[in-house]
Amino acid sequence: MSDVTAPATTASREARVHLQTYARQPLTLVSGRGCWVTDDEGRDYLDLVAGIAVNVLGHAHPAVAEAVSRQASTLVQVSNLYFTLPQIELAEALVARSPFDRAFFTNSGTEANEAAIKLARRHGRERGAHEIVSLTGSFHGRTLGSLAATGQPKYQAPFAPLPAGFRHVPPNDIEALTDAVTDATCAVILEPIMGEGGVHPLRDEYLAAAREACDRVGALLVLDEIQTGMGRTGTFFAFEPSGVVPDAVTLAKGLAGGIPIGALLVREAAAAFQVGDHGTTLGGNPLSCAAALATLRVLDEEDLAGNARARGAELVAALQPLVGAGVLAEVRGRGLMLGLETREPIARAAVAEARELGLLVNATGDTTLRLVPPLVITSDEVGIAADRVGHALERAGAAT
Ligand SMILES: Cc1ncc(COP(=O)(O)O)c(C=O)c1O
Repeated sequence: MSDVTAPATTASREARVHLQTYARQPLTLVSGRGCWVTDDEGRDYLDLVAGIAVNVLGHAHPAVAEAVSRQASTLVQVSNLYFTLPQIELAEALVARSPFDRAFFTNSGTEANEAAIKLARRHGRERGAHEIVSLTGSFHGRTLGSLAATGQPKYQAPFAPLPAGFRHVPPNDIEALTDAVTDATCAVILEPIMGEGGVHPLRDEYLAAAREACDRVGALLVLDEIQTGMGRTGTFFAFEPSGVVPDAVTLAKGLAGGIPIGALLVREAAAAFQVGDHGTTLGGNPLSCAAALATLRVLDEEDLAGNARARGAELVAALQPLVGAGVLAEVRGRGLMLGLETREPIARAAVAEARELGLLVNATGDTTLRLVPPLVITSDEVGIAADRVGHALERAGAAT
């Protein structure tokens, strides 16, 4: 009898037809609810990745599902040749809750940063200023402008030469930043907490020094809050506790609860774009804006920034024994954006062990685990998370 051909696995099907750019976990996820996702074999996982800091309301939140389904059966896309009400309402909602006066919507984070880079160039043009200063270890996206701002050679090297006019300085080094900002600088772009680079917060004094350096030369201070925004760090924007107010901010990830969107928010004095300077076909479409409006409403109604503070503090407290026991060197970050620094290079092994234990976490490097759960996480789920993180680290440590 001839062999029956085994059915192709999900991984082998993908390998045949998708460009091989992702190092995916061996896991096919088919559904989710709240902080939990389910794979194609029916196993449940507590999700501390949340679509990489995206699903602020968790999975399948009824408010987002209802807003998307209502808008999808009304009007999805007409382009920016016309006015649409969800886009105006979203801009109004974001302006009302922030020091910014105007919004521009995109489809992703990297596009929001591209818009910020172009805006800064446009703003600096009269002074002949075009240089952008950003940080080594930063991450601003994969399109060429955002990639040039990203301070990580591993992402940049294969695509050289990148657009010119970008300078990188080490984070939290006030002197290096002050020296780098000159009359040629049109903007400084910073993540208040560097996410992809390993969850490294910038000090308040550093943000204040960046504000001062920008003011000295007339450059824009742009904060990339694509990962830190939407209440994740315990306030709507991570910059709020610092008292520093930027000229512009970029948002994406959680803004529409998982539906693709990005936003550039700017103060009036920085709103340098003229008609025709920038545009996008799908950015700010009614569907994504309706999802964002629903997300913002739930964020407020359920005080999810407050929950990020409270549950974040519980999670840090529950993880402290691992620092005491010497497995972890440090737990850093704010709210529900935490980085766990391991003493040994076991972070990637711990991700695999955690998966076996029914927990999704991700590693930003060999010694850093990143925890960015949905902001709706409960105290009970924090307890389960801490317990499984501990076991995963223990098993990963034992295997080395
Ligand atoms: C701080 C920051 N900026 C920009 C981006 C890029 O966003 P996107 O992947 O939506 O293009 C990311 C994504 O991880 C990010 O964390």
